[in-house]
Amino acid sequence: MKLLLFFGFVAVALAEVIRFEGDKVFRLKPSLDAHVTLIKDLAKSIKLDFWSPDSEDLVTIDINVDIHVPARYLDMMYTTLEQGGIVYEILIDDFQSAVDGQADSGASPRAHSYTKYNTWSEIEAWANTIASSNPSLVSSQVIGNTYEGRSMILLKVGKSSTSPKPAIFMDCGIHAREWISPAFCQWFVNEAVTTYGSDSAMTTLLNSMDVYVLPVFNIDGYVYTHTSDRMWRKTRSRNSGSSCIGTDPNRNFDAGWCTIGASSNPCSETFCGSTPESEIESKNVANFIRDNKSTIKAYLTVHSYSQLLLFPYSYTYDLAAHHSELLQVAEGATAALTSLHGTRYTSGPGAATIYPAAGGSDDWAYDLGIKYSYTFELRDTGYYGFLLPESQIQPTCEETMLAVNYIAAHVLKNL
Ligand code: ARG
Ligand code: ZN
Repeated sequence: MKLLLFFGFVAVALAEVIRFEGDKVFRLKPSLDAHVTLIKDLAKSIKLDFWSPDSEDLVTIDINVDIHVPARYLDMMYTTLEQGGIVYEILIDDFQSAVDGQADSGASPRAHSYTKYNTWSEIEAWANTIASSNPSLVSSQVIGNTYEGRSMILLKVGKSSTSPKPAIFMDCGIHAREWISPAFCQWFVNEAVTTYGSDSAMTTLLNSMDVYVLPVFNIDGYVYTHTSDRMWRKTRSRNSGSSCIGTDPNRNFDAGWCTIGASSNPCSETFCGSTPESEIESKNVANFIRDNKSTIKAYLTVHSYSQLLLFPYSYTYDLAAHHSELLQVAEGATAALTSLHGTRYTSGPGAATIYPAAGGSDDWAYDLGIKYSYTFELRDTGYYGFLLPESQIQPTCEETMLAVNYIAAHVLKNL
């Protein structure tokens, strides 16, 4: 009886997973204002899933616009493209195969692995285990609960000391579907514990500083990408007066909040929320950083995709007070990254490098006084996009380590 109930439950759970048969990802290259208008009009009449930029509001001429188009809208899409003479290519021809193809690592199923995309329950168990098995190097704490009541686990990595040490704060998984990001946070912690004592740079870093690692920021959203909709981006909170769910946590910080590149429509993928820090997840992170402001010297936030290393500002085109140092460090970091596998990165201030978008955690941390504030956009540049195969986790994490270590070394040198 129990078994039957169990299988019944599994069947219901599986039945609810969205499938993407026949869907495609297009890359559009609008070169006229008329093209931009056509794309925005189309997005108004049908529900398209913007991959890059993050929503139709951010579409401009002369940028690549990557859109996941559900099978039922393909006819309309082709008609619009042909009528408007918009240049395009198909990035993903068979979407469901790309979803299925992510798990190409051959890692044994349902055990934590650094080279696969772990579920939240695997990550949670992993976080507790790595802390308890490395007591002199890793400790864990809960900085609050998510909207759905999950514990937001934060790992503190560094040689334990009685006096407070300067620190770096790094979060992953602000956006639910960017699975390579939490994979990197896990990789980082493992590198730290396995190379401490043998790698001199890591040893020096962890002797002098602590690195706070939040492996998954938007846990509810991350769980939802595993159970229901692989393409979910936002939080999972309800919005009063709307049936649309969720807020974009990276538009929810108090930095030029909702002035530009963000939407006040709860149905938008870039909804800024009802107020700054309306999302409990953003509030928990902001509270932790505010409480530890005197020790936190750098803020790193990891997203995907586009291969970018961004720094403030994104809410304005004005240059940050420390622009030239931030740029110089970014260039050093990306050069180190590229040296390993040749992966090319672009770096610069967010507004000018991708698009203006207010309410981001990077700008907020910078304006709080944390000078070294960087947003990573990891692999790739759109071939797989959010569906990066597991076989790329290792090379992506290895190269990203070099960039993070470069930034950390600079922070350490300039304490
Ligand atoms: N793709 C990221 C986002 O749109 C980039 C964040 C850059 N920083 C920012 N404050 N907008 O959320
Ligand atoms: Zn993101």
